Order: sequence, then C-alpha cells, then structure tokens
Amino acid sequence: MMQSGDIFYQSMTESAFTSHEIRKLFLDFFKSKEHLIVPSAPVVIKNDPTLLFTNAGMNQFKDYFLGNKQPVAPRIADTQKCLRVSGKHNDLEEVGVDTYHHTMFEMLGNWSFGNPDNPEAGYFKKEAIAWSWELLTEVFKMDKENLYVTIFEGDEQEGLPKDEESYNEWIKYVDADHIIPGNKKDNFWEMGDTGPCGPCTEIHADTRTEDERKLVSGSSLVNKDHPQVIEFWNNVFIQFNRKKDGNLEPLPAKHVDTGMGFERLVRILQNKNSNYDSDIFTGTIEATEKITGKIYQAADDKESIAFRVIADHIRAIAFTIADGQLPSNTGAGYVIRRILRRTVRYYYSYLDYKQPLLFQLLPILADQFSDVFPELLQQQDFVGRVIREEEESFLRTIDTGIKRFQAHTESNSTDNDQSLSTETILYSADNKDNVEALRKEKIIAGSFAFELNDTFGFPIDLTQLMASEIGWSVDMDGFSNALNEQKNRSRKATAVDSEDWVIVSEGDEPVFSGYDKTETTTRILRYRKVKGKGKEHYQLVLQDTPFYAESGGQVGDTGTIMFNNKEDDRETSIQIIDTRKENDLIIHVADKIPATLDGELTARINKVRRHEIQLHHSVTHLLHAALRNVLGKHVSQKGSLVNDKHLRFDFSHFSKVSDEEIALIEKMVNQKIRENIAVVIKLMSKEEAVATGAMALFGEKYGDVVRVVTMDPAYSIELCGGTHVVSTGEIGLFKIVHESAVAAGVRRLEAFSGSAAEAYINEELSLIKNIRSQLKNPKDAMKAVESLLSENTALAKRIEALEARQLVGIRNELIQKDEVINNVSFIGEIVEVSNPDALKKLCYDLKNHVQDHVVVLCGNIGGKAHVAISISDSVVLSKSLDASQMIKQHVSKLINGGGGGQKNLATAGGTNVSNLNEVIKSVRELIV
Ligand code: SER
Repeated sequence: MMQSGDIFYQSMTESAFTSHEIRKLFLDFFKSKEHLIVPSAPVVIKNDPTLLFTNAGMNQFKDYFLGNKQPVAPRIADTQKCLRVSGKHNDLEEVGVDTYHHTMFEMLGNWSFGNPDNPEAGYFKKEAIAWSWELLTEVFKMDKENLYVTIFEGDEQEGLPKDEESYNEWIKYVDADHIIPGNKKDNFWEMGDTGPCGPCTEIHADTRTEDERKLVSGSSLVNKDHPQVIEFWNNVFIQFNRKKDGNLEPLPAKHVDTGMGFERLVRILQNKNSNYDSDIFTGTIEATEKITGKIYQAADDKESIAFRVIADHIRAIAFTIADGQLPSNTGAGYVIRRILRRTVRYYYSYLDYKQPLLFQLLPILADQFSDVFPELLQQQDFVGRVIREEEESFLRTIDTGIKRFQAHTESNSTDNDQSLSTETILYSADNKDNVEALRKEKIIAGSFAFELNDTFGFPIDLTQLMASEIGWSVDMDGFSNALNEQKNRSRKATAVDSEDWVIVSEGDEPVFSGYDKTETTTRILRYRKVKGKGKEHYQLVLQDTPFYAESGGQVGDTGTIMFNNKEDDRETSIQIIDTRKENDLIIHVADKIPATLDGELTARINKVRRHEIQLHHSVTHLLHAALRNVLGKHVSQKGSLVNDKHLRFDFSHFSKVSDEEIALIEKMVNQKIRENIAVVIKLMSKEEAVATGAMALFGEKYGDVVRVVTMDPAYSIELCGGTHVVSTGEIGLFKIVHESAVAAGVRRLEAFSGSAAEAYINEELSLIKNIRSQLKNPKDAMKAVESLLSENTALAKRIEALEARQLVGIRNELIQKDEVINNVSFIGEIVEVSNPDALKKLCYDLKNHVQDHVVVLCGNIGGKAHVAISISDSVVLSKSLDASQMIKQHVSKLINGGGGGQKNLATAGGTNVSNLNEVIKSVRELIV
C-alpha cells in the first residue's frame, strides 16, 4: 500500500503550505468570491432524527435546501467537523487500515443557495467549476496534469441525462481524457432516501510517481480504490427532490453543495503518500511514539495501523466529547464508546501499552486546533478526565475479556466447566452454533466471538489472531450471523418510515410566536404520516405556532388545534401530544387528524403545563449560576431536562457534591427566587452577548443573533432559546432531591420547583407525620428512632447468643445420629434453624467433632429449601468425593435451585422444600 512517491506538486517541495495555511487559503478564496464564512456546526446533532452526527458540510444547511428557512446569505463557506461512523456513510472499519479514510474529518465547503427571485445572488455549475479550478491550480498551484474530474454519465432508469452542462464547463480547463463519466453510485449525490439531490462532479488527484504514471494512466485508476489516486473534492449540484415513491421532481431553486476532504487536500499539497504523514497527524503520532517507545513505520503491519487508529480516533473522541456527547451505552454515546474501545484494543494489543494513553494526547490536539475549534482547549481538563476514565474502565474490561477467552479455549475445560459465560450459553440458547460441539473441534463459536466484540470491544481480527496463536479458529459465519442479527434488531427498533409531505396551503417561512402567546389563529402548511416502532402518527407544520418544540432540554408543548374555532365539536379538534424540531422546523405530533385540514384554525397550548415547565427552566438558570458560585467556575452544563414535573441538570464537576454544598446551592437559589428578579430577555449579536459575559454552551449551534436571558446581570446571563417566567418569584420554591454521577467528571442534580416542589415537601412531611404516629407521637421523634434502633441491636445480639447455644444443642444431637458407612461417618438431617448461615456453622462445628465424615444438613427456612454438605478432607481424598459436584449434580434439581462451593464444603438454595429427605438419601447413596 505504501509507496515512495516523487513530488505530486513539482514546484512545491520544502516550502509546502502548512495545514493552517491551507485552511485559511480556502476560506479567504471563497470570501473573495462574496461568500459568508460561518463556523463549523457541532459534530453531534441534536435536532435531526435521521442523523446522530454531522456527516457532511451540508447538514447544517438542510433547512435551506428543503425550503424550510431562508438562508442567512446566498453564498456560504466553512470548514465543518464531520464524523462518518454510523448510518449511510460509515467508514469506521477502513480507518487506520488504509491511509485516507477517517472517522472525524474536516470538510471544506462552499455553497450557493439558489433563489428564483434573485438568481444573481447565487451561482451554479459554471462558477462552481471555474472557482474550484482556480483555487486548485492558481492558489494551491496543483499540477493540472495530475488532476482528473468525473461527471455524471446519466441514468436511463431514472430518466436522467448526462450532465453535459458540467462537461461543457470542465472542457474549458481540462483535456477531454481527464474528464471521466461516472455512474449514479459515484456521481449522483443524495442526502438520504428522500430529499434534495443532484448530479455531482468529483475531483481526483493522481499522487503516484512519474514512472508509475507513465506505465498506467491515472484516468484508469480513478474511483478504483487506489491509495494514491484519490478523490478529494465533490461538487454537488442540487437540482432535484427525491420523493418517497422514488420519483425525482425538479427543484424551483438550484443549489451548489461542495465538500472537500481537508486531510486529503493537505496530504496532496504537502506531497505525502498518506494523510497520516501530513502535519495534521504527525504531532499526535510523534507523541504516541514518545509515550509507547515504539516507532511509527508507516507500513501495513498492525503496529503501524495502531498508530494511525490512535491518531485518527483521538480526534473523533475528543471533539465529540467537547461538543457535549459523553460516552454511554446508547445512541451517539455508544458510537463514541466503541471508537474509544477500538483504539484501546489497538494500543493494548499492538503497541503493548497497557495503561490509558489517549488522554495524554489531548494537550497536543487542543493546541493544534485552538484557533479553528477552540472548544477543545477550553475544556481540555474535562475532556481529558472523561477519556482517561473510559480508558481505565475499558482496560479492566479487556483483562476480563482475555480471561474469558482463555477460559473458553482451555482444552480440558469440559469437566470443570466455569469457562463458558452464562451470557454465552443464553446467547446461544437457540443453538444455531452448537458452542460445545465447536469447542471440541477447537473452533470459537460465532456467538462467543460476537460477545467478545460487543461486550469487550475485541475486533474480530484480534479474536482470530488470539485463536490462531493457540491453534484454534473462529466460526466466521456464526460471527456474521450474530452481528447481522444485532444490526437487524437495532434497525427495527429505530426504523421510522415517513411519507412525503402533503401541502395543505402555501405560506411563508413558519413562525414561532410562543414566547409571547399561548394561542394563535393560523393554518396548516403541510402534514405527513409517519410510522415508527409499530405506531402511526401525523406530523403537522403550522404557519404560526405557539407550541414550543423540544430543544435545549425543555420538553415540547402539548395542546389542542381547533378547526374553524369549533372547540366543542370533537370532529374538528385534535390533540397535539408532542412538539419536536427537525432541524429548525417545528413539527406538531398528533395521533389522528380530521378529513380536511385546510382553513383557519386556533392553535392553543396547555397553559398550565407550559407554566410548570417554565418554572423548571428558569430555576435551571438560577441553579447553574449557584453551582458556579458554590462549586467554582469550572462548572459548565453538560445536559439538562426540563419538564412540568422536575428538572435534571448534568454539569462538569470532579467530586460528589456534598450535603453541605447542596444546602448552600439550594439556599442561594431560593434566595434568588424570593428576590423576585425580573427576567430580562433580549436579542443581540453573538459578539455583544459574549461581551456581557453570557454563558454559551459547548455543542450548541448559535446563529448570529442570539437570545440572551438575564436574571440579575450580576448573577445569571445565559444564551437560551427556552421559555421563562416573567420574574423569579413565580418559581415559588426549589428543592434538590438527588445527586449522582453520570460519567467521569460529570455530576447530576435532580430537583423540583413550583407546585412539584410543594407536592414533594408535603409528601415528605406526611411521611414524617406517619412515622411519628407509628412511634406514638413522641416529643423527640429522632430520639425515639435512635432508642428503637439501639433496642433492636441489643435484641439482635441476644438472639444471636441464644441461637449459638441452640446450635450447640443441635450439634450434640447430630453427633448422636452418626452412622458409619464404609468407614465414613454419615450424618444426614433436616434441622430447624432460622437462617442458612446456621447450616454452614453447624457443618464447621461438626468438622471439629466428627472424624472422616460426610454431613448433609437441610432446612426449610421461611418456605425455601437450604442444604449444606460438609466432607472431611480425608474423605474427599480417599473416596474422591466433591461436595460442590454433589450440589450441582444431585441436590440442585431436587430442590429446584442451585449452589456450589468447595470440595469439602458446599451449599445450595432452592424453591422446592418437599424433597429434603430425597436430598439426604441421594447423598447417602454416594457413599454406600
Ligand atoms: N454533500 C456532498 C458530500 O458530502 C458535498 O459536500 O460529499
């Protein structure tokens, strides 16, 4: 794969641009072409049910393409953090193995958002192609000879012609043999199964040596997965909308959407054979060399792959955590956890590094991106702690995984079978791959390999490697089946089927008026039917809505839509059960809709519920400020949920919040409530807001104009789109009820306010009242409880002493019942004891009094069967007896339960008490 190439760009050798310069040159170029430069959107996506992560530069502009929103400018350019590790675009398995795929990458993009009313403001194929050529050949001075372009060849089935327009533009700049027609797969870009799409033209660079180029023409290697002939810029011309039935309808406004892989561009311009040899990655690779004491060979071996996996994955992990996504067991958090585990597996196995490594790379990464993505530097400490904790906990899991692997493959393991995990056996309950049979043939069952992969993060090639090292193999078909089954399960669980939007009436951009109003007179613009998780519902878009859509932690409004204002007419009034956002579009969810949806209607939210939600939202701001005052300025919001019943607030903090701190926080918030501070909400520019000291959240996407919510300028100023009380007195009361840990460095507080707080306090008071009354209303309830507890302890001690005496009595009786069978003293009895431990104690005691014995004691304790078997060590040896095996093979099924222990002492418990005599008999039979 690796080749020593000559320089791709002849005139640029030592003085190649740095990655910083290249990024800047791109943005400056498009700025000079009247593009507005915007910041990258967060890599974690919040309001788009179809995506977990930003996977293309155009994601943040989806609403512009879909016509839901007017663009802030007709021409835009940026660099966007993207992650392609889930869903339609998923490159994870290639990453590190090759030299040009990444999990997180930067996509440089330029856009034109067409507007039929103002065609001059935008541009299309002519300008897009001319400018891309100008940038590459005049600014970056790339060698034209080594550039190839592809254009859409057309598609008969779709009824789409060849993209002649693009061809005619390209032919002005490049030779015909450098223009290559491409099929729908490569040259027709679609955002998803439905939605805006169109033909694209891609630019490829041939970075092979001159000799190689002479032997085989670059054009024959385009789109052939050649590591040195790579695509790096895609210019998409959005001109169609893909409908649900598969048909394409032309769009009234045509758009340009381009995406250039920054890491590939830099590698080409810096004349390297691999993206990892460019200055984007060399810093982290050198640091990894220092940490591990190994040298990166830039080859195809596992050690080199490990270096690349680390250099790539640390970026994805660090930036998603910085954007607010913590590793977890579901959704986006799970994707991050898997990427992190993949990395740990690589350094653990192939760089022989067995301690947390990734977190050590953070300072280099944070510094490298401090100008373009400063969010990492600003949260370096926090992100580092989260990563370190994840690494530590996974390193512990790996140890367990390796032990499991070893136990599974122990050849003599069938007799003494502790090796197969319960999960494995359960997982294989359908016995598609007969785990036991495979084990006899030294084949690792697919289900076990899958368990190692899923639970312990072992990549399958690692399991194969570990297997081959001891002469085993892996049932790969079984593994693929288990993997596919899991994929199908999760696909089914999340599959949502949306029909096309049905237009009800034409209108302007939908408006949210719910900051000031709880009711509006309006109409429906469009609706669609959506099926998901076995349920069917309708989604409606209103021209003007008072319904707040779930965002920023605040839940969506519920309420009613009344057609023709006939509130009492059941036929024409529908319930809105939830309000959500899809990108910036407000979607009202209803279980059913009437036959006709056109005409005027009244949209009214549930006011009481909204008010309770507002109390919880406003008090969340007071809480955030109190936390920063009491715990320190390192506290920043990491997640929140605000509804009408309670609030949940996650924040960065590195130790448990003590009861004293909670009391202080609560006191401060209640003080601010009583001060009845007027809540001032203003719209201002982002710069102005930042200047006032407003707290912005990492991972949130803010526009140029932001909403600033102030509750006493000296106390709380936050950027926030939520709804709030008029003054803090409305909140009434604040009560924290729970504190816990969410992840490393993240704590959670749960609290009530308003009537929910009142109800909570009343419940607690009524509980205390009931306790008092149970205690017969003593003057000092606390003292009464304390004396009850100490009485209880004294009684427990007395019972213990009495029981000990009783056990001595039972033991003496048992000794009398000793029956000698084949030189072994056998005692088998059902005894009356109050707890299972007493059976064990009796066994221990009998050991001191009866030589060469087998004792089996049973008890019916509280309706449950309990058994203890004791065998003298001498008998274990002389008669080859094993108490633990007796329990497993004979006792467990008789008492309908299970247990285990050692050869000389084992116990069991079960639900069937009717066979205790049988138990004694079965043990006795083993020695006769
Ligand atoms: N949307 C296109 C892509 O992701 C171009 O930006 O490739």
